[in-house]
Amino acid sequence: MTWLITGGAGYIGAHVVHAMTEAGERVVVYDDLSTGISERVPRDVPVVVGSTLDGDRVARVLAEHDVTGVVHLAAKKQVGESVEWPLHYYRENVEGLRVLLEAVTAAGVGAFVFSSSAAVYGMPDVNLVTEETPCVPMSPYGETKLAGEWLVRATGRATGLSTASLRYFNVAGAASPELADLGVSNLVPMVFEQLTEHAPPRIFGDDYPTPDGTCIRDYIHVADLAEAHVAAARALSSSPGRDLTLNIGRGEGVSVREMIDTINAVTGYDTPPTVTSRRPGDPARVVASADRVARELDWKARRDLHDMITSAWQGWLHHHPEAART
Ligand code: WQD
Repeated sequence: MTWLITGGAGYIGAHVVHAMTEAGERVVVYDDLSTGISERVPRDVPVVVGSTLDGDRVARVLAEHDVTGVVHLAAKKQVGESVEWPLHYYRENVEGLRVLLEAVTAAGVGAFVFSSSAAVYGMPDVNLVTEETPCVPMSPYGETKLAGEWLVRATGRATGLSTASLRYFNVAGAASPELADLGVSNLVPMVFEQLTEHAPPRIFGDDYPTPDGTCIRDYIHVADLAEAHVAAARALSSSPGRDLTLNIGRGEGVSVREMIDTINAVTGYDTPPTVTSRRPGDPARVVASADRVARELDWKARRDLHDMITSAWQGWLHHHPEAART
């Protein structure tokens, strides 16, 4: 099989490319390089520069490379930006997917793995979020991911395309320093940035109904997440007609304060955090039930919080050498 990986030059996409090639799969990357970096892609993997909104270009790539499966990660992913710029998010994430699916079905591609998000759940009021927990997204970003799942599932039902939507929880870490997340829009890199500037890490609210008052999330190592894509791709190619929706998390809740304590221990900075007001729209607790993915794909995360933070810090130091403690 040959897999087209859209967004394969991005932080998560590049990890998926590496995991797929290491597992012996043939891969082609399709990326508009708006945030992707082609140097993240192994040299022997072709990189085609293009947008999923360009159906003709997608159709040519599918034909030229004899593509038999697609892993679709190309998307805009910033919650705050999506609130300010909803039409852009709907165009990139929903219309881009619709155009891609048109080309995919016309080319007779058999398998489609879709990058979804825990953002589809919004503010779930449950201890562990299962795939049956109602989806009430709180942002245009989350809405585009939920609409994307609908598009993917409806297309599968109508055409026989085998599909999987993977709902990522909070992704962190790096398989190697070069592949690290260069964005500073999530907790781990935001704390690293503060420490690098010799400023205290910030806790956005410590009056939540949780044991230490700070928000709880389910953090997952990006290398584990990438391996889940390999498992999903293989499951779809070996059994046509699948329709999977799966949480990809560890099923373990970690509070913001626990994260910052671990980051301080790993980095050696030991800077006490400061508490600021709540960030609007943050749910108190979002932790996955990872039972269904274990059952359906025989996949389970192998790396722990320490692995995530250590590898993320090595990546941060690679790109920010001034952050090193002397
Ligand atoms: C985690 C916790 C913050 C920074 C978002 C999207 C989600 C997915 C992942 C894309 C929250 C707190 C953060 C800081 C803090 N995105 N925090 N101080 O909001 O759980 O999820 O990213 O697919 O869809 O919603 O992740 O890393 O921004 O925040 O206290 O300096 O850390 O308030 O409780 P979030 P996050």
